[in-house]
Amino acid sequence: MFDKLFKKKPRHEQTDIERRFNLIARVGQGSMSKVWKATDLKTGRTVAVKVLEKEKTERFEARFRGLNKPHEGEISTSLHHPNIAEATEFGWTTEDEMFLVMDFVEGVSLSLLVDLQNEEMKRFRLRYMIQIGDALSYLHAQNWIHRDICPRNVMISDEKCVKLIDFGLVVPNLPEFRKPGNRTGTAAYMAPELIKRQFTDHRLDIFSYAVTCYEMYTKRFPWDAALTLDAVLQHMNQPPEEITQFVPGIDSQIAQAIMKGLLANPDERWQSAAEMVAVFREAESRLVKLAREAAAKNRALEPPKPAAPQLPPASQPQPAEAESATADKTDSQQREDRKPTKRPAGKVRKRRRPDDDIDLTAMFSED
Ligand SMILES: Nc1ncnc2c1ncn2[C@@H]1O[C@H](COP(=O)(O)OP(=O)(O)OP(=O)(O)O)[C@@H](O)[C@H]1O
Ligand SMILES: [Mg+2]
Repeated sequence: MFDKLFKKKPRHEQTDIERRFNLIARVGQGSMSKVWKATDLKTGRTVAVKVLEKEKTERFEARFRGLNKPHEGEISTSLHHPNIAEATEFGWTTEDEMFLVMDFVEGVSLSLLVDLQNEEMKRFRLRYMIQIGDALSYLHAQNWIHRDICPRNVMISDEKCVKLIDFGLVVPNLPEFRKPGNRTGTAAYMAPELIKRQFTDHRLDIFSYAVTCYEMYTKRFPWDAALTLDAVLQHMNQPPEEITQFVPGIDSQIAQAIMKGLLANPDERWQSAAEMVAVFREAESRLVKLAREAAAKNRALEPPKPAAPQLPPASQPQPAEAESATADKTDSQQREDRKPTKRPAGKVRKRRRPDDDIDLTAMFSED
């Protein structure tokens, strides 16, 4: 698949997107595009339509002239992962701008949750970090480098599921694309090797991923004033601020994993996103186990419930009595009654995660 994307491209047809889609509302103004929530009049589906700004996209693609770099539409539609927004189609508008059709993600940007630092963020951030890491490991396994990992490019669906978006700056993980010089991305998330115009590889995404995780805990960057390239250049030779300074109660395994992702020398950093995410997973199962044990201990300390009154022997309950008999049923009888007889065809039972049924807020609110 990866090799196929480098083949010569045929001439393309143009689509009148205002006829093809009912453009319901503008949902995003990225730096390179406009995004609409829309109804696809061909399929009836609710979709996101992303129209790329022609000039900016051409300027970016010109950096790779002669290398046959696949464009955003080809890259996005080749990716299939539960934590990546699914792109189903791409084409060209009548203005000859590229457009992309994606599953519409109902939810919020991770950058909003970073700003809010609300209960949802505190409760689910470890899960989100694992899912971002999974999406990144998958992307790297397909031989791509994202080059713009940051909260702005992560959406959190209403089902509390990460959807990585924006493959506009993606390059193939091949030597001709890793040469120094292509300094695109978002300043505060850029790895030192990128800023210093050295050779880069997929480990620059690991750095940006670590900055993102750091922000999810602290709402700040690991260095002061990291908003412009100049500012980043100035502080790049200093070590990052320890995350424990801002979140003293953070789990030490998680803290160390994030700090290792921020190391300036890519050889000392995590070598793969999969390695980093494996540590987060280990921490998650340990914390879930601890929370379960604490919950069980609390239950054991609760005073015993009064015994259920005995049902009257054999006599048939009268209609008025029937109701109270239901109320008097023992726990196991009630559980038996609640068992679904048969799930209606086509209804899939939602898979529960181990931490869905237990309040982990206290466990994960280390600050
Ligand atoms: N599949 C989607 N479902 C819902 N909203 C989306 C989807 N894709 C993008 N958006 C919205 O559009 C915004 C811009 O999208 P995207 O990041 O892909 O564009 P961009 O121009 O490349 O952005 P950037 O400013 O990062 O360069 C997102 O922040 C998000 O709010
Ligand atoms: Mg973006």
